[in-house]
Amino acid sequence: MSAFAPFKALVHQRCGLHLEGLAEARLFRAMASLQASTGLTDTAQLLTQLTSDAALFDQFVSQLTVNETYFYREPDALNWLVNRYLPKRLAAGDPPLSIFSAGCSSGEEPYSVAMMLFERFGERAKALFNLTGGDLDHQVLAKARQAVYGGMAFRALSADFKARYFSPYKGRFKLHESLRQWVTFCPFNLLNAAESSPGGPFDVILFRNVSIYFDQQTRRRIHQQLGQLLAPNGILLCGVTETMGNDLGVFELVEAEGVFYFRRAEPPTAVPTVSHQPPLPMGDKSDGGIGDSAGNDLELASSGALAPAAPSCEQATEKAQTDSINHPLQNAQRLLNQNAFDDAATLLEALLKQQPWSTDALVLAGLVARWQQQPHHAYDYFKRAIYVAPECWPAHFYLAELYRQGELSDEPLQRRQRYAAVVRLLTAAPTSDGGLETIAPPLPPGDARFLAERYLEAGNTTLVSTSTTQGVG
Ligand SMILES: C[S@@+](CC[C@H](N)C(=O)[O-])C[C@H]1O[C@@H](n2cnc3c(N)ncnc32)[C@H](O)[C@@H]1O
Repeated sequence: MSAFAPFKALVHQRCGLHLEGLAEARLFRAMASLQASTGLTDTAQLLTQLTSDAALFDQFVSQLTVNETYFYREPDALNWLVNRYLPKRLAAGDPPLSIFSAGCSSGEEPYSVAMMLFERFGERAKALFNLTGGDLDHQVLAKARQAVYGGMAFRALSADFKARYFSPYKGRFKLHESLRQWVTFCPFNLLNAAESSPGGPFDVILFRNVSIYFDQQTRRRIHQQLGQLLAPNGILLCGVTETMGNDLGVFELVEAEGVFYFRRAEPPTAVPTVSHQPPLPMGDKSDGGIGDSAGNDLELASSGALAPAAPSCEQATEKAQTDSINHPLQNAQRLLNQNAFDDAATLLEALLKQQPWSTDALVLAGLVARWQQQPHHAYDYFKRAIYVAPECWPAHFYLAELYRQGELSDEPLQRRQRYAAVVRLLTAAPTSDGGLETIAPPLPPGDARFLAERYLEAGNTTLVSTSTTQGVG
């Protein structure tokens, strides 16, 4: 075991930070500076000192956190929040509304919200909204309170905003006092919200570009902590690239005008029960099959998701969640093979309400929509599947088929790009399942690649793939 392992474990336990891979370099630097500042070289003594001295630990952690941030970062979500969501909330309830930036670093995020709210609501904004920023790192909090920034912090902010809200200050720029004082900053540990409570409940929690530093188990713990800070109808916004990794079943993922956010999960709605199930002609990936009482499995599975494991028993909960999606998927696949398209569509619609990011459900829903002669719906489902799993070659393939078969007016470039993606993906991984977790790909990967290559060679040929796609495409 490396001499650093107990330090990694201590940081992980107290702050959740996962110091593996590239992050190790930060740990080595922090260790060197810890040795220099304490004069201790013996690692056991250092560990004892670090464990018992809170200020020393804070100083150590400051060197381990990644504080990268800037004004107006990922503006689509901020624009939606300030110009769409918050005005609606104000119209519906009593101000003030409370907004919390969890992992605010040096303050650029909450101050961006402050500027945007001020633009929209003027001086009134300060009475309408409370703004708080919290961070584990005491050093960045001190910077946030000062509100003095250099060039890189402004890289995404318009010159107009900069001129309106900042004044030159010792070669840098200082935020105007009235905005600075509006935002409160406090020490805050995501792993221990109760002890380091920043107040609340909050109507909006920004949890952006923070979760990437935690493993999945820690993220789930953090969601539970954040759940305690969130008002009953509050929302949680993650960074654009983090949203999928935060869809952990603690909160419900919602999309509004292209922006994704989380809210408290409503109790799962029961997925409709299907009374009769034919045998399974198309493959699935279940190891034990689902027996001949498949008709009841849906009901059991969905009630299983609600009932079984005590909340402390994470594995059992995960299994129930997995079952609650796998069984309906298998049933939807059967219905599709039976040409029972309406039943399959109903089942998949309910499933996608619970699991909007299931690649399997999206691909099946796309295939069903094709059979229902709803090519635009099919297109949307396949596009979503590709968004979730760019490696999903079946979605690329069937999207191209929509063009080639004339179901959508042809876009030769798009069609070729999709077939080319199939060839590229299946050349790199010839037996890839295309990111499907439960159902087997609707056509064998070798066939898909062969066909895609032929269509690419031939341009818009008349080749038809009925023999390989019958019943699924
Ligand atoms: C990359 S910055 C993100 C800043 C800002 N939210 C943004 O999107 O630009 C991540 C911040 O999360 C903070 N952080 C890391 N672990 C934390 C924890 N356990 N509790 C609170 N903050 C934490 C770090 O100190 C760092 O300032």
